[in-house]
Amino acid sequence: MSFNIAIDGPAGAGKSTIAKTVAKELGFIYVDTGAMYRAIALFLIRNDIDASEIDRIEEVLDEINITIEYENNAQLVMLNGENVNSYIRTEKVGIMTSAVSTHACVRNKLLQLQRQLAETSDVLMDGRDIGTCVLPNADLKIYLTASSRTRAERRWKELTERGVECDINQIEKDIIDRDNQDMNREIAPLKQADDAVLVDTSNMNIEEVVAHLIALVNEKKA
Ligand code: DC
Repeated sequence: MSFNIAIDGPAGAGKSTIAKTVAKELGFIYVDTGAMYRAIALFLIRNDIDASEIDRIEEVLDEINITIEYENNAQLVMLNGENVNSYIRTEKVGIMTSAVSTHACVRNKLLQLQRQLAETSDVLMDGRDIGTCVLPNADLKIYLTASSRTRAERRWKELTERGVECDINQIEKDIIDRDNQDMNREIAPLKQADDAVLVDTSNMNIEEVVAHLIALVNEKKA
């Protein structure tokens, strides 16, 4: 039987950084489900299909093949055989992804793939609906969050360090809009599962969060 860890939380809470590090320390496979949704959004952008065109999206879903590969422990998201990791992290793709992931047909397509991955390996999977929907029987569920201001500050710092000019208030507004969209959608909205442990990282650094999560895993395994 595989041991499964679900990490959910809003955009910018540090899920992927934390999840990657914890998975590496535990020797688990890290599955970034947001990247899978992003790859679908990228396909739609490339084909000039808007998030509101539900009929067209349903039509083209069969043409979209998403698979996951691993290279030096890093997850590669393959879109019809192409590694799209370097194209899916833009704000444009992020906003499109949040809109596209509201559609049931899109979610159903990825649900099966995500469950298959968890059946066969010890996984640490992060997203919005992992504990509530994808892996309701996960051995450990974490809800990782931070205040919208803290999340905006982290994003601002990351962009500024890369030389990108940006406005922190606009970043915070985008984060709040994204939270609203992810939390208020009809299907699989972002919410803390009843049996998830809440971890607010507003006043914690990465090392502290990682250590806290490893301790929670060890408690569960004991
Ligand atoms: O984690 P992320 O920022 O890469 O996710 C991008 C979008 O994908 C997010 O706004 C909502 C959607 N998503 C989802 O609906 N369900 C998931 N399990 C993961 C992501």
